[in-house]
Amino acid sequence: MKTARIRFLTLSMAACGIFLTIPKVAFGTDKELAKTAKALFGIIPAKTAAPDKVTAAQIELGRKIFFDYRLSKDGSTTCVRCHQPQFYSTDRLPQSAGFNNNKGARNAQSILNLKYQDIVHWRNDRTSIEDQALRSFTTHLSFGNSSEKEALKRLELAGYQPLFKDAFPGSGNPLTLENAAAALGSYQRSLTTRAPFDQFLEGDIKALSNQAKKGLNEFITVGCASCHNGTAVGGRTMQKFGVYQNYWNLTKSKNPDKGRQEISKKDEDLYVFKVPSLRNINETAPYFHDASTQDLETAIRWMGKLQLNKDLTDEQVSLIKAFLQSLTGELPKDFRIAPTLSPQPYAGPEPL
Ligand code: HEC
Ligand code: HEC
Repeated sequence: MKTARIRFLTLSMAACGIFLTIPKVAFGTDKELAKTAKALFGIIPAKTAAPDKVTAAQIELGRKIFFDYRLSKDGSTTCVRCHQPQFYSTDRLPQSAGFNNNKGARNAQSILNLKYQDIVHWRNDRTSIEDQALRSFTTHLSFGNSSEKEALKRLELAGYQPLFKDAFPGSGNPLTLENAAAALGSYQRSLTTRAPFDQFLEGDIKALSNQAKKGLNEFITVGCASCHNGTAVGGRTMQKFGVYQNYWNLTKSKNPDKGRQEISKKDEDLYVFKVPSLRNINETAPYFHDASTQDLETAIRWMGKLQLNKDLTDEQVSLIKAFLQSLTGELPKDFRIAPTLSPQPYAGPEPL
């Protein structure tokens, strides 16, 4: 059993392509730490090139849809209901509620920094963020529209035709749900949160407190970065939750979720979930797919035990927490401030 576990870890770490570069000893200087961290993670830049006119129109269209409650069947729901700016694009609920207050099965994830992630949803059951958006319009847990036709009708009634024309010029019939999903994709990819950690990676070693730097050191040497790596500090692979023991031993989850296995039906996918991004993690409690804890320190301690078979000391936990707090960035203005919606008389919802 032990060999199998070790093999699993080695394989999964090799898949990340970075395990061999992780030194076993503490780093000598802050500059060395920054250099090693730069190879494991990635920088969210201070400035990005301004989008061209068409992309800018798509981003603005996506933004309006994201905030427009009129597009759901009962006027109760749109993306921002569950991905709220004040909670860094989560909803602080164990399970989100959508149309008709229907409850989903898992905790809502953040939609920030998706540009730097490959996997969508806890169980990797969406092929892209466009696929995710497209299906939201008609699922009973989200917008609740009974058909694609009904979802399109609401976009039409809310006065979206001219915006689709600007965002998809040259298209004979611009108002489609595929285009709505593409616009939402462009919008979400534009939302990134640069943090003090990025300044540190760029060489500004004073951007992090001594605690945070020690915590980063722990995060790397203890093994967290073997799964949580890349620019989003996660979001790139699927891994078993509970490598060394059943996760519910610690989380006390009732009816443990089987994760990816429910989608793929493969044994090796049992209890496998998306390795989430840890950007802004201090702001997005509750934690884990089933919201099994509100407390970040508890989440860190459980991760040490379940994923690495390590009992982290109180000091290690608090240092790692200080590092994770340095991943909190500034919210983009396009997300913090709600857009002005078209002043159509249609207030939604209407039975269609
Ligand atoms: C009813 C609440 C609710 C609404 C409305 C909602 N979401 Fe979500 N969202 C969730 C939950 C819950 C998850 C996690 C689902 C899972 O992984 O099983 C999620 C996950 C996501 C993800 C995946 C993030 C990741 O890290 O993998 C994206 C992208 C996303 N939502 C975008 C949207 C967009 C765009 C809309 C509007 C078209 C939307 N959501 C509407 C609750 C909601
Ligand atoms: C073997 C891979 C692996 C290792 C190593 C690992 N994690 Fe995780 N981590 C995951 C997975 C998978 C999840 C999602 C579990 C779930 O909710 O189903 C996760 C979730 C988390 C969460 C909750 C995120 C959220 O959005 O709810 C935190 C915090 C976290 N990890 C921190 C750490 C820390 C700190 C370490 C090192 C002590 C660590 N992880 C080591 C794979 C790993």
